[in-house]
Amino acid sequence: MRPVQESRLQGIDFDSVPFGRVFSDHMFLAEYKNGQWQQCRIQPFGPLPMHPGTAVLHYGQGIFEGMKAFKDEQGNAQLFRPLKNWERMNMSARRMALPEIPEELFMEALTTLVRMDSAWIPPGEDGSLYIRPFLFASDALVGIKPAEEFLFMIICCPVAKYYNKPVRVYMSDHYVRAFRGGTGHAKAIGNYGAVMQPLAEVREMGFDQILWLDGYEFNRLQEIGTMNVFVVIDDVVLTPSTEEKTILEGITRESCIILLREKGYQVEERDITVPELLNAAREGRLTDAFGTGTAATVAPIGEIGYKDEVFTLPPVDERPVSIWLANEMRNLRKGHIPDTHNWLFRL
Ligand SMILES: Cc1ncc(COP(=O)(O)O)c(C=O)c1O
Repeated sequence: MRPVQESRLQGIDFDSVPFGRVFSDHMFLAEYKNGQWQQCRIQPFGPLPMHPGTAVLHYGQGIFEGMKAFKDEQGNAQLFRPLKNWERMNMSARRMALPEIPEELFMEALTTLVRMDSAWIPPGEDGSLYIRPFLFASDALVGIKPAEEFLFMIICCPVAKYYNKPVRVYMSDHYVRAFRGGTGHAKAIGNYGAVMQPLAEVREMGFDQILWLDGYEFNRLQEIGTMNVFVVIDDVVLTPSTEEKTILEGITRESCIILLREKGYQVEERDITVPELLNAAREGRLTDAFGTGTAATVAPIGEIGYKDEVFTLPPVDERPVSIWLANEMRNLRKGHIPDTHNWLFRL
């Protein structure tokens, strides 16, 4: 462990940090060589020396995770369901021919790093420390074959609220994010690189994100680029099922389904078709829609664009489901209500 001589924390204004651009003092690294994890260390945050032939740069054999640390009212730092991120990271690793990370290595690295940089966890209702574990092929190898050397790292960014207003999403009828047998269910880096150009196009049209549809008929909802999607039609909460392995099994998604069901809402995990959604919107039966994810927690959707039409949803303060859910998730993480599911991991 090599701590910094002097922290960079002085002069950071937590209320105005841009998402993902400011990094805490330290980072974790572990190398995988000769079939073993080794050289586990924490060192000052800084650039990596990299061979120009490093496999991940050429073939995208890499994955990542996203999680957050919060401070409760008493200033205690905690994580939300960290073992779920560990499980999902190993699922992604298997899909991308990367070595799995033992639970002990993942948890020890995570807790030691976040404890060391706990002064970087913003206080207050909406601030948190975004934690980014990632794993990639580090072999210097220009040749298409699974790599043999890998690097596992964790870096952290203090962040403020992700979206300040309802999200405007556009349903693309010609770009595809994921298809059966592909990598949509894994947090593989290529999934994200491939959507940058479609995303730039919809931003140009005035939308924030793409609400992806299936790649066969462009008829069933999948998810939003960084969030799972929920809609409320005729008082039933609907969210696409993860069975086809084309969408990410969001940890926020699963937590929200549990909370909603406990509250007495009817939640169905099933196909949602474009005509079903648009007819409900036209007939005033689509009363709520929101995305769920670690970065944004529960983000209300304000508008849905499709072809040349834009459907405007009811004002955010008239949405009982997403208002209740967003408050419940915030209160839970901030320790305002009891953690009956044991989802919080005290650091
Ligand atoms: C494609 C995608 N879908 C959904 C999510 C939400 O997942 P989680 O709730 O685990 O953050 C994310 C964010 O990690 C994502 O990248």
